[in-house]
Amino acid sequence: MAGGNATAGREEGAGDGAPVAAYRGEILHFVGDPAVLGDAAHRHHADGVLVVRDGRVAVAGAAHEVLPTLPPATQVIDYRGKLIMPGFVDTHVHYAQTDVIASYGAQLLDWLERYTYPAEARFADPAHAAEVAAFFVRELLANGTTTAMVFATSHPASVDAIFAAGEARSMRLVAGKVLMDRNVPESVRDTADGGFDDSCALIERWHGRGRLAYAVTPRFAPTSTDRQLALCGRLLDEHRGVFLQSHVAENRGEVAWVAELFPWSRSYLDVYDHYGLLRERAVYAHCIHLDAHDRRRMAESGAAMSFCPTSNLFLGSGLFDLPAAADSGVRVGLGTDIGGGTSLSMLRTLDEAYKVTHMAGHALAPLSAFHLATLGGAASLRLDDRIGSLETGKEADFIVLDPAATPLLARRIERAETLAERLFALMILGDDRAVHATYVLGRRVHTRART
Ligand code: GUN
Ligand code: ZN
Repeated sequence: MAGGNATAGREEGAGDGAPVAAYRGEILHFVGDPAVLGDAAHRHHADGVLVVRDGRVAVAGAAHEVLPTLPPATQVIDYRGKLIMPGFVDTHVHYAQTDVIASYGAQLLDWLERYTYPAEARFADPAHAAEVAAFFVRELLANGTTTAMVFATSHPASVDAIFAAGEARSMRLVAGKVLMDRNVPESVRDTADGGFDDSCALIERWHGRGRLAYAVTPRFAPTSTDRQLALCGRLLDEHRGVFLQSHVAENRGEVAWVAELFPWSRSYLDVYDHYGLLRERAVYAHCIHLDAHDRRRMAESGAAMSFCPTSNLFLGSGLFDLPAAADSGVRVGLGTDIGGGTSLSMLRTLDEAYKVTHMAGHALAPLSAFHLATLGGAASLRLDDRIGSLETGKEADFIVLDPAATPLLARRIERAETLAERLFALMILGDDRAVHATYVLGRRVHTRART
C-alpha cells in the first residue's frame, strides 16, 4: 500500500463529512455513454481513492497515485471490498404515491381513479404531506438515490413539504405542483388560472434555492384543458431554467382518450408540441406508444424520456423501446414511478429494465445500465455538468455498494470474473440491502444498519 503521508485507513468514522475526506475502495463512474464510447465511457479503479473537498469531488483515481498526494492527517475512510459510484438519479417518481404502491389489479386509468386520486387528496393536509415527504426522502437515500424528479400533488403545500424534506438533507430535487383542471375528482382538481398563480408562487419560493429546482407539472394531457396547457408554456417562457414533467403514451386506453379529446392532434405527443411543451428540461415519463416521428420530435426539441420499467410492467402498460429511443438520439433516464412502479430501488428498476429490453431482443448491457442510472439520468435532466459522475469539481453525491450484502449476492459475485459480470449480479440481485452508505455533498446521510 502506498500510504504516503495520509493517516492509515480506518473504519468509517465520526469525522466523515469533514472539509477534506478520502474514501478508499473500488471506484466506478462514467464520463460518457458506453453505447457511444465503449470502454472509454467509464473510469474504473479496482483500488481507488475518492477525495472530497467542501462537498465537491477533488479527485477520483488509483490509490497508489492519490494517497501520496493527500495532506497529512487526511482521514481515509476504508471502503475496500465495496464499490463507490455516483448516487442514482431517479428521473420520474411521485412522492405522494408512496402509500399507493402495490395496489392490485387495475391498468392506468382505473388505477388513477380507484387508488391514486383518493391517496393524493389526502395531501390537502400539510401534516400528512410532511410525514410522507420525510419518509420518502429517507427511502430515496436508503436506496442510494441522491437526485430525483418528483411529482407532488395539486396542493401547493405538498410541494412545500417535499422541497423542505429535500432541503433538510441538501438533496438535489426537481419537483412541482400537479396541474389538472378537468376529468379528475374535485378534491384534486385545480383551475387553469389558480394553477398558474400557485405555480408562479412556488417557483418564486423554491426554484434555485440551494439544490432545488422547480418543474411545471401538468399531470397528462387528458386532465388539463387547452387553457391550462397553454399556461404551462407561458410558465416555462416566463421562468428561465424551470423544468417540465409530464406523462405521455403510457397506456393504449389513455392514447385513445387523448385522440378523442384533441381530435386535431397528429399524435398524443403532438398535443404537448402544440403548446410548446417539448423543449430542453422537459421530461416525459413512459413514451411507450410513440412512433418514429414522435421520437424524432423529442430528440430535436431537446426533451427527454423517462423509462419506467417496473411501472410499465406492473400497470400492464407495454414495453419501452430503448434501442429506438437511442437511435433517435433522444435523452433517456430511468424512473421508478412510484406508486405505479414497484420499488424505489434503482437496482430493482435496472433488473426490470434488463428484462424489458431482453423481451425485445436487446439485452441492456450492465455498463449501459449503470450509466443510465447515473450520468445518463443526470444528462436527461441536463444536470450532468454538476452531478452523475465523480469527475473533479462535481458535487460529491456518491454511494457505497456492498457486493456481499446478502449471502446469495456474495456467492454469485465471488464467481464473477469481470466488472460487467459483477455489475450485472448487483442489478439483478441487489436492492436497498446493497446500499451500504449514501453521501450527499460529501456528507453521509445514510448508513445501512447491520443485520
Ligand atoms: N399518467 C397520469 N398520471 C399518472 C400517474 O400518476 N402515474 C402513472 N404511471 N401514469 C400517469
Ligand atoms: Zn408517473
